[in-house]
Formats: sequence, structure tokens, C-alpha cells
Amino acid sequence: SLYDFGMIGLGVMGRNLLLNMADHGFSVIGFDKDATKTGALESAATPGTTVKGVADLAAMVQQLERPRKLMMLVPAGQPVDDVIASLLPLLEPGDVVIDGGNSHYTDTLRRVKYLREKNIHFMGIGVSGGEKGARTGPSIMPGGDLEAYAKVKPMLEAIAAKVNGTPCVAYLGKEGAGHYVKMVHNGIEYAIMQLISEAYTLLKKGAGLDNDQLHKVFDSWNKGSLQSFLVEITADIFLQKDDKTNARLVDVISDKAGSKGTGKWTSQDAMELPVAVPVIDTAVAMRTISGYKDQRLAAEQLYPAPDATIHLNTEQWIQQVHDALYFATILSYAQGLAMLNEGSRELQMEIPLPEVVKVWRGGCIIRSTLLEVFTQAYQQNTELANILLDKGVASLVTSVIANTRSVVAHAANAGIPAAGFMSALSYFDAFRTGRMATNLIQAQRDYFGAHTYQRTDMAGTFHTEWEHHN
Ligand code: 6PG
Repeated sequence: SLYDFGMIGLGVMGRNLLLNMADHGFSVIGFDKDATKTGALESAATPGTTVKGVADLAAMVQQLERPRKLMMLVPAGQPVDDVIASLLPLLEPGDVVIDGGNSHYTDTLRRVKYLREKNIHFMGIGVSGGEKGARTGPSIMPGGDLEAYAKVKPMLEAIAAKVNGTPCVAYLGKEGAGHYVKMVHNGIEYAIMQLISEAYTLLKKGAGLDNDQLHKVFDSWNKGSLQSFLVEITADIFLQKDDKTNARLVDVISDKAGSKGTGKWTSQDAMELPVAVPVIDTAVAMRTISGYKDQRLAAEQLYPAPDATIHLNTEQWIQQVHDALYFATILSYAQGLAMLNEGSRELQMEIPLPEVVKVWRGGCIIRSTLLEVFTQAYQQNTELANILLDKGVASLVTSVIANTRSVVAHAANAGIPAAGFMSALSYFDAFRTGRMATNLIQAQRDYFGAHTYQRTDMAGTFHTEWEHHN
């Protein structure tokens, strides 16, 4: 008998998604040219489920129920095009091919168009949640044509994470929308990770907290308004013992951060639109600066740090850092969601933001209790251009702003790097300023380049012959 679903690429993500599908009653078949991986797939299957591994692509395609539904989980870039090239002669009109990897949405757009000419439905789907999420319930961000989505919807809903019984998957827009939403998800992921690392250094250098105390702080934060996957795993990380020394593992890990590029894509695309996502930009930049290890060590000798001790009672300081993290986390989502709003309009993807925040509530790396707040905000106003304009969000932001200012001021005085917090606050202060100082920039542009300006008191475009005074 034929299989319900096929997977190309049986790395840990591909294998786990397939096993998840099988656990939900679908018969599945996976292809990988590496026979150890096909074997690993079959031996990991839950007894009683229908799971097959093959090392021959054509054999897999032939054994799929028509119209075929298959996903590839291979590294982004050329490997995806290579798989498409080898699949094409084996497919028939109406088949659905899903790219579940972290592809750039412009590649997805190109592939959607190319395969549409051949009557193959190509869907770019963002999958978040790491290996464990893939196995037990990821957050799934599909984009493409609705007809194709209808064919795979039952499977995606079955395997997705559930929040109060609602699956964390929904149709998120046309063409490349799935990968676009996943890209922005990753930008927000970068931002929040940066902010958590700043909270860590502010607590550690500012108040001298050790790993056990840091664990307790993050663990308690995870029980309150900061409840989130990233805060939860951070609490765990402080307790992890190193198996090579007596140290805590976090203390022996190099401070050079890696990246695969999706955070950078978010910033690049935001600049192009344009839309301002400075917390994400800062997060990308900090990973880059983390790579300047030798220069940083030299600079440390040249520029001694001011006294980093925060002269506040520890409990108060922890509360202030908590509030700053809460503030800046809201700002990270606000910037990412504003980008989705703008990108969707610009590229005509029709991304439904109320659905995006619901899908992100469970399974993904940026899941957090805050997404419930944003879900409510979009229930009030589905067209919200920026969640900071929602009254409920505004009252939360207002409740933590004073402590955020205090943390940023202390970080500046103590010379503790906290660019994410600072950037979030700067964006916020510009955003809530009805009349910015950019009138002066317009004057300068007109002065040196006759770039013209608009006036506050009358309509039209003006140019002035500016008087020179020296
Ligand atoms: C997820 C993650 C994941 C991503 C890594 C890579 O949602 O499960 O976003 O898809 O591959 O987090 O990020 P780096 O750029 O930090 O390697």
C-alpha cells in the first residue's frame, strides 16, 4: 500500500518530523542517500506505526499516495535546488512539495514560480522548535497556495504543538510568506537571546550573582510575566555541570557566538523595505563583535572599565533588570511584527498577523506568555500597524518603563555592554515622540543639496536659498 507522506533528508529534524507524523497515524516514508540514516529512522519508530526508510529517491516517490505530499529538510541554498532538480522528473501535476528548511524567502518565491509552471505546488514552510519540537510538536509556518495547504493541513495540524487544544499552525500567506514569517521569527529569536545575555551580564557583573543565584532568578522569572521557552532554558543552563572540569559548563564556553544567517537576513530585508528593527540589528551586530576576540582582549587593556558594581539592593536590581528585559522583549516582538506588517503589504503576501502570533504561542523558540497579550491586541484590531499602539500593551510598557530607564542608565555608568536594552529604549523614545528632531535633517538636506522639505503649517514642497553666515 502507498504512503501518506514522504520526507527527503533524514537528518535529525527530518527524522523527527516524520516520526511525529507516524505517531499521529500517518504512514510515512523517508529518503536519504545515507543508509545509516534510513536505518536510524526505522529503528526509532514507535512500535505499531508505519515508517519506512529508503536510499533511492525514485523508489520513495513511487510509493507515495497521489497527489503526492512530500517535504524536504536539507540545508538551505543549492541543496534545495538540487533536490528539486532530481525530483522533477519523478513528479506529476498536482503534487505538493514542501521545503521545511530555513530557506531565504526570495529563493522560495523563485521556486514557487518555477514549479507552478510545471503544475507542481511548492510550499515554503517555516518549522521551529529544534529537534525536540520536531518530535513532539513544533510551531509550523506555512505559506504558498491555499489549494496545496488544504492537502497537507490535516498532517500539519496533527503534528503541530497545541495550545489549549489549538494547533500551532495556520495558513500564513501567499508565495514565500511561510519562510518570510520564519525569517522574522528568527530575527526576534536573535533579539531576545541578546537581551537575555544582557540581563545575565547585568546581574552577574552588576550584583555579583553566581550561577546558582542566576538559576533561581531566571527560574522565578519563568513563573511570571517573562514566562517563555528562552528564559526557561536559560535557567537550566546555569545549573549544567561540565563533564571535563568541575566548572559549570556556561563558564567554560567560548564567548564567540555562531550564526547561520537568518538573523542577518531579517536585518538586511528590514533595511530594504525599509522598516526599523534596531533591536534585531543590534543582536546581529553583537554576535559579530563577539567574534573580535583578540581585538577585544587588546581593547580591554587600553580602556579600563568603570566600577561595574550597582549600588542598589540586590532584590531591587533584580526587579529592575526583570522589568528592562520585559520591556525590551516587548519591543523585539513589536519591531518584528511591524516588519511582518510592512513586508506583507510590500510583497503582497497577505500575512495574517493575528494568526502569526497564535502560531507562535507554542512549539517555537520564541514562544512566550507575551504572545497571549499580542493575540488579544490583534483581536481588538486586526490591522494594528504596531503593537505598541495597543492600549493593553501600552499599559504593560508603561508599568516597566521607569525601571528600564534606570537599568540603561546604570549600564551606561558602569560600562556594561547592554546595546539591546539601549536600542529598545531609543526606538521607544523616538516612537513615542510626536515631533522628532528630524526637521533639522530636512533643513540640512535642503541646505546642501536642494533636496526640498515640507512645512508644518502649509501644504506643498519647498526649497530655500539658505543664508551663509561665515
Ligand atoms: C528554530 C530556530 C532554528 C535555527 C537556529 C539557527 O526556530 O527552531 O530558529 O530554525 O536554525 O536557531 O540559528 P543560528 O543562526 O543562531 O545558528
